[in-house]
Amino acid sequence: MTLASAYRYPFPPYPTGWYVVAASSELPSRGVLPLRYFGRDLVLFRAESGRAVLVDAHCPHMGAHLGHGGFVEGEGIRCPFHQWRFGCDGRVEDVPYQTRGALPVESLACWPVEEQSGVVLAHWSDGGRSPSWRMPAITEFGRPGWVGWQTFRWQIHMHTQELAENVPDMPHFRYVHRVPAPPEAEVKTSGHVYRQETIGRGADGGIVWRTQQTLFGLGLIVLRTPGPIPNVSLNAITPIDEETVDLRVMYVVEEGGDATTLSPAASAMLEAVASTIGDDVPIWEHKVYREKPSLVPGDGPIATLRKWARQFYESGAEGAPDRD
Ligand code: FES
Ligand SMILES: [Fe+2]
Repeated sequence: MTLASAYRYPFPPYPTGWYVVAASSELPSRGVLPLRYFGRDLVLFRAESGRAVLVDAHCPHMGAHLGHGGFVEGEGIRCPFHQWRFGCDGRVEDVPYQTRGALPVESLACWPVEEQSGVVLAHWSDGGRSPSWRMPAITEFGRPGWVGWQTFRWQIHMHTQELAENVPDMPHFRYVHRVPAPPEAEVKTSGHVYRQETIGRGADGGIVWRTQQTLFGLGLIVLRTPGPIPNVSLNAITPIDEETVDLRVMYVVEEGGDATTLSPAASAMLEAVASTIGDDVPIWEHKVYREKPSLVPGDGPIATLRKWARQFYESGAEGAPDRD
């Protein structure tokens, strides 16, 4: 299949890597969640042991959607239509009315899943490759005195790489996010990790603020802000299909003591920050992707980010490819 002519990007829609598909709190014990990501209908369920499992949604028998009426039983899920049971590896484990012969060998496609730091992550690879790296835990989550996740969410008409490209885009912080002066960036890349220190200076040239952004592939950006209210945000961007992404901006905030709820000051700060992220949205949704932008000194390390990002496209970053 050739990508639709309306496709806006010179690289494939689903970069290789880990993506948040749910918050852990969205998936209770024995919960079943219908999802749509990577242009597919999927079902996330929590087996009785607590393990999160992600499978293709449609039953290999007669095509029912397991996320609409399917139910967890032990370490598997039963289809609502004829109650075939599939294990955590997607294989048929029981056909309740089969009178003889071996069980069908057709199975549900099963996706690599990891759950940590209060999120369920799934791994995407166009070629079905196994994950070659893992997302490190966000150790502030669950630590006494830290409150979160507090989540803001958008559905946006764009590619995941647009959000990543926002990180090194220094002047936009001034003109879109109303930071008084464009900040400076110091960048290091190492394998699948892009790490940037972003430094804001006052009129006298002194450092007024400093944040650290770390990208793990193109789906996960961790932003550490040391003050005035210390917080960590996980900016998780997951492709829904070739045109649309699901952006979750999740905060865990240090309130100190044994706090379990956000203070009014922290809530107000998060609302304000989230509203400035919203200011990016109309720009992302309506822009085109310039492969050869006319960058000027002061634009920030956008070229460094683009070069680093190429590794996440298995079929190459140049030109819109044909895909099956
Ligand atoms: S369609 Fe799922 S068991 Fe028949
Ligand atoms: Fe931005």
